[in-house]
This record gives sequence, structure tokens and C-alpha cells, in this order.
Amino acid sequence: VDLHWGPITPNALNNGKAPFPEFHDVYIEQENLRYYQEHGNFPEGTVLVKELVLVQPGKYPDGSMDTASGRGHFPSALHGIDVMVKDSKRFGNTNSWGFFTFGHHAQPYSSTAKVMPTEQCASCHIAGVGRLPPRTMLLKHFGYRY
Ligand code: HEC
Repeated sequence: VDLHWGPITPNALNNGKAPFPEFHDVYIEQENLRYYQEHGNFPEGTVLVKELVLVQPGKYPDGSMDTASGRGHFPSALHGIDVMVKDSKRFGNTNSWGFFTFGHHAQPYSSTAKVMPTEQCASCHIAGVGRLPPRTMLLKHFGYRY
């Protein structure tokens, strides 16, 4: 499994209401990541796991804090698991990807997850198609050179 460090969009920089105020860390099977980097698309069966991690509250207005390594935003507690599964037969009506969430909150998470309605996840990813190779449905860049 490969880990990609995600962006951070804290509440303090988004009028107090960022849709995802946490760090976003994405886990991918290494062979599927390599395939993507070569072909610009993930193979059938690929699973992407996005783990949300809260930011430690800092004293500055932008939410940052001072530490020995400098001023910045630092992770604290785990705060959610979102999953994308590529299966063109099952999820053909949302560009081959199914969207699931095991909870966007503190642990414990659900032990099972049902596919999410299109308007809650896939629609936003569909709206972002075009920023990356066609129909990948990915909104993050995982190193494909195009
Ligand atoms: C407001 C638009 C929006 C909605 C709604 C949304 N996402 Fe995303 N999603 C993004 C953006 C932007 C990224 C890339 C940056 C990041 O990691 O947040 C992303 C990234 C992801 C990733 C990492 C892979 C990638 O595409 O980069 C997964 C997995 C994911 N989202 C799952 C979900 C799930 C599951 C839901 C519904 C519970 C959901 N998303 C709802 C905008 C959205």
C-alpha cells in the first residue's frame, strides 16, 4: 500500500466551514498506483481509501501553531474514512466509480458501508472531471505525467 499525503483546507482559512477541514491522506495498492502513473487510469477493482485527520487547534487566526519544526498545521485525531471502488459494471452510471463512507466523524466508524447517492459524492467528482485525465474521476494528482 502506498500513502499519498493530502492537502489541508482548515476551517480557519474557509470562513469556519470547510467541507473537509481535515488532512486528507489517500491509500492505494502500490501496483494500482503504478498502473495509473503509466496509463492515466486505474484498473478495475482499484480501491482508494481517503482517511480524514483533524488538525490540532493552534493559537493563530488561521488555525496554525508553533512547534519545534516551525509554524504550521499538524494532525491530531482520525476523523473519517471515505472509499472509492472502481467497478465499471456496478458503477457504470457514475463513470465506473462507486463511493462509500464509513463515517465522517470521530471513531468508532461503521463496520460496513452502502454505496452513497450520486448527489452526495459522485456528482462533485463528475464536476471535477477534466482537471485530470478523462473519466478518472480523481480530483487529486497521483503522479501521472500527461
Ligand atoms: C465538494 C465536492 C466533493 C464532494 C461532495 C466529495 N468529494 Fe471526494 N474529493 C473532492 C476533492 C476536491 C478531492 C481531492 C482533494 C482532496 O483530497 O480532498 C476529493 C478526493 C477524494 C478521494 C481521493 C481520490 C481522489 O479523487 O483524489 C476519495 C476516495 C473521495 N474524494 C471520496 C469521496 C466520497 C466517498 C464522497 C462522499 C461521501 C466524496 N468524496 C464527496 C471533492 C468532493
